[in-house]
Amino acid sequence: MSTFTIDTSTSRATPSPVPGKRMTAPSIRARKAEGKTEQPIVMLTAYTMRMAQLLDPHCDMLLVGDSLGQVIYGLPSTIPVTMEMMCAHGAAVVRGSWHALVAVDMPFGSYEGSPEQAFASASRVMKETGCAAVKLEGGQAMAPTIEFLTRRGIPVIGHVGLTPQAVNVLGGYGARGKSSDEAQLIEADALAVANAGAFCIVVEGVLEHIATKVAQTVPVPVIGIGASAECDGQVLVTDDMLGLFERTPRFVKRYDDLASRIAEAARTYAEEVRSRSFPTEDQMYRPKA
Ligand code: KIV
Repeated sequence: MSTFTIDTSTSRATPSPVPGKRMTAPSIRARKAEGKTEQPIVMLTAYTMRMAQLLDPHCDMLLVGDSLGQVIYGLPSTIPVTMEMMCAHGAAVVRGSWHALVAVDMPFGSYEGSPEQAFASASRVMKETGCAAVKLEGGQAMAPTIEFLTRRGIPVIGHVGLTPQAVNVLGGYGARGKSSDEAQLIEADALAVANAGAFCIVVEGVLEHIATKVAQTVPVPVIGIGASAECDGQVLVTDDMLGLFERTPRFVKRYDDLASRIAEAARTYAEEVRSRSFPTEDQMYRPKA
């Protein structure tokens, strides 16, 4: 049963006063024409309804990334992330958005076994969340799976370069493409994924000149993270760019320092509770005069 029906019975769940037409996989794909993207594509991660509501007006795509394993659940990597987590958060983000295309990450172990396994998992994600696309990691090895999915009605975003689900094979989260062999592999991966039918590709954690070359060579939009300003769009983990964590990767620009602001608000609240200066008259119910 689907879980993404809009619930207007509580004000906090009402997603939008402005019903509009959502971005679609073809509309995102069409942003790159003859190798050029006039207006770069804006993508951020979202994991909750409220964050989706806040980000949606500014974004072309919202990604329910499996980074939620670390960001929301405090897991050491994305490896333990489950289908249940992705479906629950995916449905919440769809409920909180009306404009952006919502894409949901396929968790590790849910798609690599065979194209048939990938179809079963991806169709479940789409039915349970209402999302418009899935993202999966991997290059040439995943091309037959991407072709299988797209030919059966599932829009796919590829993800090459640093692929965090492969951390145990890669040996860490360092930038990729430092040798010419590796650079060639990343370029071939991106091309294979595009040729297989992905409507756009995330390129993560690669040397700048490789990302630039991929963006110039691949016909579909290339969304960079730790990549190059020449990409057709950019994505960041929202919690990183809001400054919610003390440590962030070098490629993250912090647009706020929410960690300090939340800590300060909590400190003031605690002080006021302990001194009984909260609640005041304004925050209490009294019988009407
Ligand atoms: O899981 C995620 O948030 C991602 C982005 C970093 C691209 O895959």
